[in-house]
Formats: sequence, structure tokens, C-alpha cells
Amino acid sequence: MNFFVRRPWDLPQKQHTSPEIYWNRKQHRREFLKTMGIAGTGLLAGGIAGCSKPTAEELQQAGKVEALPESEKTLFPAPRNDAFEYGRDETAQFEAAYYTNFYEFSVQKDSWRYVEPFQPTPWELTVEGECDNPRTFDLDELYKEFEHEERDYRFRCVEAWAMCVPWTGFPLRKLLEKVSPKASAKYVSFQTFYRPEEARGIKAYPEFPWPYTEGLTIEEAKNELVLLATGIFGEPLPKQHGAPVRVIIPWKYGFKGAKSVVRIQLMDKQPVTFWNDYNPREYGFQANVDPEVPHPRWSQARERMLGTGEMFDTKKYNGYGDYVGKLYS
Ligand code: MTE
Repeated sequence: MNFFVRRPWDLPQKQHTSPEIYWNRKQHRREFLKTMGIAGTGLLAGGIAGCSKPTAEELQQAGKVEALPESEKTLFPAPRNDAFEYGRDETAQFEAAYYTNFYEFSVQKDSWRYVEPFQPTPWELTVEGECDNPRTFDLDELYKEFEHEERDYRFRCVEAWAMCVPWTGFPLRKLLEKVSPKASAKYVSFQTFYRPEEARGIKAYPEFPWPYTEGLTIEEAKNELVLLATGIFGEPLPKQHGAPVRVIIPWKYGFKGAKSVVRIQLMDKQPVTFWNDYNPREYGFQANVDPEVPHPRWSQARERMLGTGEMFDTKKYNGYGDYVGKLYS
């Protein structure tokens, strides 16, 4: 059978958003407009429904995290690790922070609009499960106990957009060493916060299996490339990028990297994960970037850079085969 696979960014919104969400959203918008008394006036979209681009100040203000520990002042910017470079132009900071996926706030890439109520400080990250020394770290401990560095990584979303950004953080492996995993630890699961009062998406999209969870095998988790990131562009993570700490796995599709993580669990079984649970046909557990394996609704052969719209051929493992190819041979 021969059929034409359209690229996701060519599709009308309803074709690359799950139908339930699309129609719920239309319903919400109708209700909103009715409340405003402007349904049917044709005024719509633009300013009112919020489609115009924010100013850099608006964007920064919305994502700014208040009351970080004092240690933040000496941590950022962390020294750059020159072993990593993009091989492409860096994405503009503004474009990366403007177009984000954070469903706890919005399914429309504009989470910066809704993150203001989210309070990521103080924060605790608990590491537990199949390990000898389970422990809870506060942010100050994460900042002080782990040597931070900056790495330029390519980043690829399953939706076929990509970016090149410098993350600040440290290898997850170092955190795992602190808790002494047992031999029975075969998988690692990551869990995002669950705060419906601060994150409107949790209430607005009850069809999703909240809280957001993701997972890796223990061998993947110990790979040198996996970062626990506390910053981006030499600054602490803004809220929409997953403040105050998130996971970055540059050879996998972006959905594998949970944002705003509160719990890391070492497990003897493969954990249930958000997207795989919600739609297993479209989102596998492994989710390695691979141009040869199309998403059921679009090709993965090419990718589009945020901001510039430049197109590139997708690389297997997002170009990180030297680091991770051996994990899958
Ligand atoms: N983590 C949580 N908790 N919630 C999310 O919706 N989206 C994922 C991932 N982590 C998501 C998440 C997806 S689909 C992608 S592509 C990346 O975050 C996007 O990271 P960015 O928005 O900082 O570019």
C-alpha cells in the first residue's frame, strides 16, 4: 500500500493532538468565549485566545523561579564540558522557552502562560526502591553535592521538532551511586510532581494517567549521557523547562525525560510510564530516536529546528551512537 505521510507540522491541530484533547479544548474555548460574551463575534484567536508571541520579558517573568537556595549564585554558569557540541547552530533561548511540552500546564506548547502558580521551591527529590541507601535530597544538596557542568546537547521530540541547547547538570549515574543500587535494580522510574492546584493541566486533562512518569533500564540510566539537569542556557531551569530538576536523555525522544522530578525509584520490573500507558501503539518504552521507524501517524526521517525552521535528516540515536549503540547490540 502506498500512502503519503504528512509531516506533523503540516497537520491541522486536530490531527496531531489526540481527538479527546482537541474536542475538549474546543469546548473549553467555547465556554470561555461565552463567559466573555463574545461567542460568534469573529474576534477570536489572536490576542484574546492568546496566539500572539510574548515579549522576552513576559516569557522570562512567567518562568522565573523565586527563592532558590543561596548556592545557586555560585553554581551558574557551570563550566562547559567541551567533549559535547551540537554540530549545528544553537537554538535561541527565547524560542526554546516559548515552545515547550509540559502537559501539566498545557497541551498547546504554551505552558509558559500557565506556569506562574507553580512553586518549585522548596523542593525535595526522593531516591528509593531497590537500593541500600535511599535518600531524599533538597535542592541545596543537589547543587552542592554534585559537581555540575554544562553540556551542549541535541534534543529531538517525537513530534519531529528539534533543538540544540546547553543544559547544566550532572550525570544521573552519580546520584545512583550515592544510594547504592542492589543487584535487583533492573529499571529506574522517574516521577513528576502531582499538584493539581498549581498545574491546571492535571485538572483540565483528566484522561491522562497522572502523575507523569517515565523510565529507563538500569544500564541506560547509568550511561554517561543521561543528565539530571538543573539549568539551561547557563541559568536555573525556568518553570516551563521543568524546574527545578529534570531528566535529559539525548538519544531518546524528548518525552522520555520527565520534568520537575520528585521521585526516582529503582525497580526490579519495568515501570509503567505515562505515554506508553496512555497510548502504547504510538509511544514505546524504549523510544530511541530512529529515522527508520516512523511514528504510526508521521515519518521520523526528518526534523525541524525550533526557531529557524531548518530541516535536517534525523540521525539514529540522535547522533549519539558512539555512546549508546553498545546498549542495543
Ligand atoms: N515531563 C512532564 N512532567 N510533562 C510533560 O508533558 N513532556 C515531554 C518531556 N517531559 C513532558 C515532560 C516531552 S513530550 C518533551 S518533547 C520534553 O519534555 C520537552 O522539553 P522542553 O519543553 O523543555 O523542550
